[in-house]
Amino acid sequence: MAPATRYDRFSVLLHWLMAALLLAQLGLGLWMVDLPKDNSGVRAGWFNVHKSTGMLLGLLILVRLGWAWLRPRIAPLALSPVKQRLAAWNHRLLYLLMLVAPLSGFLGSVFSQYPIRFFGARLPRLAAPWDMAKEVLSVVHLWAVYSLLLLIAVHLLAFVHHQFILKDQLIRRMR
Ligand code: HEM
Ligand code: HEM
Repeated sequence: MAPATRYDRFSVLLHWLMAALLLAQLGLGLWMVDLPKDNSGVRAGWFNVHKSTGMLLGLLILVRLGWAWLRPRIAPLALSPVKQRLAAWNHRLLYLLMLVAPLSGFLGSVFSQYPIRFFGARLPRLAAPWDMAKEVLSVVHLWAVYSLLLLIAVHLLAFVHHQFILKDQLIRRMR
C-alpha cells in the first residue's frame, strides 16, 4: 500500500491540542515568574495551574511519541533532500524538547520545598528538598523552554513559507 499523504486523525488531534496547550503554557510560564511573592496565594495558584498543565503535556507527549512510532509511515514531501532533512530534524528536536521541558519542570519541583498538585490532587513527596538540584533543574527548564520557543518559531516560519510563498497547501497534511 502507498504511504498516506496526510497525517491520521489521531496525530492531527494531538498536534493541534498540544500546540494550543504548549503556547498557553509558555505564555503562562513567562508571565507567572514575575508575579509578586506575597501572601495572597495568587503566585502559588498560577504556579499550580502551570505544574498541572505541564504534567498533562508531559503525559500527552508520551502518547504522541508512542503513536509516532506505531503509526503507518507518511509519504515524504516533494522537497529537496536538504529541506526534507531540515524538517525531519526540526520535528525530532521539537519532540525531544517537548519531553525535556515537562521532565525538567517536574523534577525541579520534586526537589523544591513545595508540594506538587495535579489539578488539585496532592502528589506524594518523591524526594526531600534539595536546593542545589532544584537550581540546576531550573536552568535546564529555562534552556529547554527557550529552545522550544525558538524551534516553534522556525516551524511557524516554515509554515508561512509553504503557505504564502510556495503555495503548496502543506497544511492539508495536518488537517
Ligand atoms: C506549539 C506549537 C507546535 C509544535 C510543537 C508543533 C510540532 C510539530 C511536529 C513535531 C510535527 C511533525 C508531525 C508530528 O509528528 O506530529 C508537526 C507537523 C506540522 N505542523 Fe506543527 N507544531 C506546532 C504548531 C503548528 C502551527 C501553529 C502550525 C500552522 C499554523 C503547524 C503546522 C504544521 C504542519 C503543516 C505540519 C505537517 C508537516 C509535514 O507535512 O511534514 N504547526 N508540527
Ligand atoms: C511543556 C511543558 C512546560 C513548558 C512549555 C513550561 C514553560 C515554562 C516557562 C516558559 C517558564 C518561565 C521560565 C522563566 O522565565 O524562568 C517556566 C517556569 C517554571 N515552570 Fe514550567 N513549563 C512546562 C512544564 C512544567 C512542569 C511539568 C512543571 C512542574 C511540575 C513546571 C514548573 C515550573 C516552575 C516551578 C517554574 C518557575 C521557574 C523555576 O523554578 O524553574 N513547568 N515554565
